[in-house]
Amino acid sequence: MTESTDQDVNGFHYFRTQVYANLSGGEKLSQVYDNWAEYYTKQTGSVGYSGPANLAALASDVIRDKSSRILDAASGTGMVGEELKRRGFTNIDALDPSQGSLDKSKEHQSYTEYICDTLDEHQTTVPDSHYDAVVMCGAFGIPGHVSDACFPELIRITKPGGHIMITMSTKVSEDWNDKLEAAIQSHVQQGSWEVVDDRWITYHEHDTINEKAKVPILRVVKK
Ligand SMILES: C[S@@+](CC[C@H](N)C(=O)[O-])C[C@H]1O[C@@H](n2cnc3c(N)ncnc32)[C@H](O)[C@@H]1O
Repeated sequence: MTESTDQDVNGFHYFRTQVYANLSGGEKLSQVYDNWAEYYTKQTGSVGYSGPANLAALASDVIRDKSSRILDAASGTGMVGEELKRRGFTNIDALDPSQGSLDKSKEHQSYTEYICDTLDEHQTTVPDSHYDAVVMCGAFGIPGHVSDACFPELIRITKPGGHIMITMSTKVSEDWNDKLEAAIQSHVQQGSWEVVDDRWITYHEHDTINEKAKVPILRVVKK
């Protein structure tokens, strides 16, 4: 665990306020993450952000083959990818609209490809059925970030039989989580994926905070 200083904690609150001031997303939000990139990993660590490490641990439970091709979607500075690499995975790509965050993540050399793009209703340059698994931490449920609009794209880029794992924090509004659950079920009904399991991870733990996240484990069935 990173040692916490007042400066880190204050820095974290400063940047989080900037994120919340740009909840319409787009270029301005990416600029906030570009500016935060240098400090992000240390500052979020100093306030007990453990979602990335715990999502990687869960993914490592589900994905048996260490050479599986994995996309860390909304990768930020690469906290999930770094932990997957530490657990022996060798074939991980990063995708994020913040070029500054992608550049910062190059320092730990966890990724093969760096894709600067958003996930939403548009089609990325990723080929069809490219990944064995897609993992995403900390991007669902914050307005202006990632919504269920990207589910068809996640399904398109994942191989049949491959897994998609996304964190859904309990701190996200009930309305938002209800909408996500409905979207997940709608793709179940269309036969695009099945829910293999709903797992829970510790997402954020610090002083009086004990935040969990639900991680549905989705297995792509067909396109
Ligand atoms: C709170 S950070 C989480 C980063 C990393 N996954 C982690 O857990 O540390 C949210 C990330 O989502 C990215 N993001 C925002 N909108 C996005 C979108 N539409 N598609 C993909 N990533 C997006 C941001 O650039 C930012 O890096």
